Amino acid sequence: LREALAAHLAVARGVQCQADQIIIVAGAQAGFDLAARLLLNPGDLAWIEEPGYFGARYAFQNAGIQLALVRVNSKEGLEVLAGKTEFPQARLAIVTPSHQFPTGVTMSLAQRLALLEWANQTGAWIIEDDYDSEFRFGGRPLEALQGLDKGRHVLYVGTFSKVLFPALRLGYLVVPPALVDAFLKLRRFVDTQPPILDQMVVAEFIEEGHFLRHIRRMRQIYKSRRDVLVEMLQSQLRGLIGVSKPEAGMHLVGWLAPGMDDQQVAKQAAAKGLEVVPISSLSLLPPTRAGLMLGYAAVDEKKIRVGVSTLSEILIKLKPLV
Ligand SMILES: Cc1ncc(COP(=O)(O)O)c(C=O)c1O
Repeated sequence: LREALAAHLAVARGVQCQADQIIIVAGAQAGFDLAARLLLNPGDLAWIEEPGYFGARYAFQNAGIQLALVRVNSKEGLEVLAGKTEFPQARLAIVTPSHQFPTGVTMSLAQRLALLEWANQTGAWIIEDDYDSEFRFGGRPLEALQGLDKGRHVLYVGTFSKVLFPALRLGYLVVPPALVDAFLKLRRFVDTQPPILDQMVVAEFIEEGHFLRHIRRMRQIYKSRRDVLVEMLQSQLRGLIGVSKPEAGMHLVGWLAPGMDDQQVAKQAAAKGLEVVPISSLSLLPPTRAGLMLGYAAVDEKKIRVGVSTLSEILIKLKPLV
């Protein structure tokens, strides 16, 4: 599996590694957990995207790490300069540069280079969570941060949860050569190893070409679902929700008008059988904008249409008076 992954990641993501730099783990979550314990000491400070992924946040908090919340903006992603100014002593940054979770922003080249320069100057580690980058619909294909850095400060985290299915519980870390033994040792005493039978099946799936065919097929399906959702939101919820077409991934964010309460919208949607995630629930600082994370990958076009109508009924009633 490690050999199949090394070959795939080199071509698909520009990740530079040998097979033995890959540590197979039980999903990205297990990777965050190992990295948090191994790279830092309790009390150390780590940059974390705000808003951001709760799974990574909990893993680091669990290991006694202090979170340094660094805002993400809608143009360039992580605000590296703010991180450097407010938390210069941080020893690590956890980022989702290809498709920021949850905002969907792709980190600009300028911010990527600034982040790598910070790591270079301070000796900090970067954890690149590349959770759904296989599904890129347009724009320039983006090389992983790990490849840009040549794997010196960046640990790349991948998962089969999005590209195949989450119940598989298989993911991987790509670590610098000097860290391989320490990671293997820690994993050995935490988890022994993820199931070998599952690993063999996935390895064959990749080697026989099914994996690439699956990615190509799903990319088309997700792209058309994204298009339907964007078009429906733009035509039915004009003035109530702001969307930009994401270039990648399985979800988008619908930004709400100022003054709207995203938690209230989500609660009312849940009562009508529609699951949307309020951006404020993924934020630890007061959010700059209210918004809803809307997943489109697991729902067909008919359900997307029903979902948008439900959301429209709710938003029209809650619209703030001007
Ligand atoms: C930002 C992000 N990272 C990683 C993951 C994958 O986690 P795992 O591989 O543990 O299922 C997810 C899944 O929801 C995610 O949203």
